[in-house]
Amino acid sequence: MSTDMKRVLVAGATGYLGGFVAREFKSRGYFVRAMARSPKKLDPIRDSLDEVFQAEITRPETLDGACDGMDIVFSSVGITKQKGNLTFKDVDYQGNKNLLETAQRAGVGKFIYVSVFRGPGLLHLDIVKAHEDFASALRHSGLSHTVIRPTGFFSDLGEYMKMAKRGRVYLFGDGNNRINPIHGADLAEVCVDAVEGDSKEIDVGGPEVLTHREIARLALRAAGNPERITSVPVWMICGLVSLSRIFNRHQGELLAFMTEAMTGDGAAPQVGARLLADYFRELAAEAPES
Ligand SMILES: NC(=O)c1ccc[n+]([C@@H]2O[C@H](COP(=O)([O-])OP(=O)(O)OC[C@H]3O[C@@H](n4cnc5c(N)ncnc54)[C@H](OP(=O)(O)O)[C@@H]3O)[C@@H](O)[C@H]2O)c1
Repeated sequence: MSTDMKRVLVAGATGYLGGFVAREFKSRGYFVRAMARSPKKLDPIRDSLDEVFQAEITRPETLDGACDGMDIVFSSVGITKQKGNLTFKDVDYQGNKNLLETAQRAGVGKFIYVSVFRGPGLLHLDIVKAHEDFASALRHSGLSHTVIRPTGFFSDLGEYMKMAKRGRVYLFGDGNNRINPIHGADLAEVCVDAVEGDSKEIDVGGPEVLTHREIARLALRAAGNPERITSVPVWMICGLVSLSRIFNRHQGELLAFMTEAMTGDGAAPQVGARLLADYFRELAAEAPES
């Protein structure tokens, strides 16, 4: 191994974004160590990894040595759909803080973290607060860092495709609000560029600004189905969010975040070239889930 080869620890590599980030680092000549609680889940990107470190980010004692010899730590660890007893605070905040402390002890040079677009304005949502509390800890750590705040990922919009394949897409509200979603590979380029850049915070979205109604149409077209779109009134969804929060706080918070994502309006600085219509066509060609 060349001595000037930069070494990176990628935490979250079993997930959608982290997988693309590990591949992007590898393609740019980095030595890539992936950290995962279930290393088997790294099989699809095994060719892009030099090392695997098995650890549970919420259990600090398992992190000993995880960052040793690393120049950079990247983390996209966070609860998106995962079930279990752990809260956003346990994982998104405290888990990443455990990793940050391990990185500081190991003398890592830079920490790259992925939060959420418009995060500082959405602190009433548990998931966003956990992300931003960690971003704040990172800011105060004294470690060189970048917080990346992306819009919705193409992977999340796969939900539209699932509905489109069934023949009807349901929108939260009228669907006239805009978003510029981003492909994981385009976002991974931004994350890796951040290592060499000076920006401490980066807002980023994909190349096309679309309304949710336009996204629904793209999904139905890719699925080969007629345009059947139903708007669910926002007041009805807000009622559902309040009820869910009472019976299951975690699920309620996930629904609240999803509602914000589907009803919020605004585009982030546009990057990348990958188009949602192409992504939907790929999903449409996949075999149906059994
Ligand atoms: N999806 C979006 O539209 C979007 C938009 C903006 C920002 N973000 C943020 O970007 C980050 C990455 O998103 P993504 O879509 O790539 O998420 P993802 O596919 O769900 O991946 C999340 C990663 O976090 C790990 N993780 C989750 N719970 C864990 C736990 N209890 N202990 C250890 N590891 C755990 C997962 O590991 P396992 O595989 O072991 O579960 C996985 O590697 C998240 O923090 C998300 O909030 C997402």
